[in-house]
Amino acid sequence: MQRYFVGITGASGHPYALALVRALLAAGCGVDLCVTESGTKVLRHELGIDAGGDVERLGAELARRLAPAAGALRVYPPQAVEAPASSGTAGLCAVILVPCSMGTLARVAAGFSSNLVERAADVALKEGRTLVLVARETPLSAIHLENMLKLARLGAIVLPAAPGFYHHPRTLDDLVGHVVGKILDRLGLERPAAVRWTGELEPPPEAGVEPRGGRP
Ligand SMILES: Cc1cc2nc3c(=O)[nH]c(=O)nc-3n(C[C@H](O)[C@H](O)[C@H](O)COP(=O)(O)O)c2cc1C
Repeated sequence: MQRYFVGITGASGHPYALALVRALLAAGCGVDLCVTESGTKVLRHELGIDAGGDVERLGAELARRLAPAAGALRVYPPQAVEAPASSGTAGLCAVILVPCSMGTLARVAAGFSSNLVERAADVALKEGRTLVLVARETPLSAIHLENMLKLARLGAIVLPAAPGFYHHPRTLDDLVGHVVGKILDRLGLERPAAVRWTGELEPPPEAGVEPRGGRP
């Protein structure tokens, strides 16, 4: 089973994280998941998932929502520096921080590794494995931009949570799906319902008419 590490931080944009984990599990992949301390608060605020810092509870709630295959979803607390993702030998396919706060981004850029999420990113960089940072903040300061540039130069993929509108989204799921599709592309995985730009400009379809190529 291909296994990915998904780190969820205290930035806004937790629907992206849940949709990505759902897509990875649906693709038959395994997911090692970790939510930072601040991420736990934003998870409760944005998605109503109240784990209270307890990984057992978080795992149970995610299992209820996502119905993973046995052993596919493993949840770790941020203090679990002994988790597989802490070592390059674990052989995880890629590390995705989604959403990625400017704080975590800065610490990854500086090689801090003060929790499992930052350590997993650090390991991906040192091992030359795929690291996707779904950065979320606006506006961006020069510090944020410098950290992103540094990480991009080190080989990380800085993929801002900035959905496009050219695929004529109608729902929040469409917007979330656009960003998640971009992440899956960078992981080399199939999008569940791929909507690809064909090069044809056209006005949005009328309400009730299915857009060409289906929903994103
Ligand atoms: C509701 C809420 C939304 C937030 N959104 C963002 C955000 O979009 N980007 C960001 O960098 N920080 C955001 N923050 C602040 C981070 O949670 C804070 O900087 C935290 O220390 C990040 O910790 P972490 O990187 O360890 O998860 C938000 C905080 C809250 C409470």
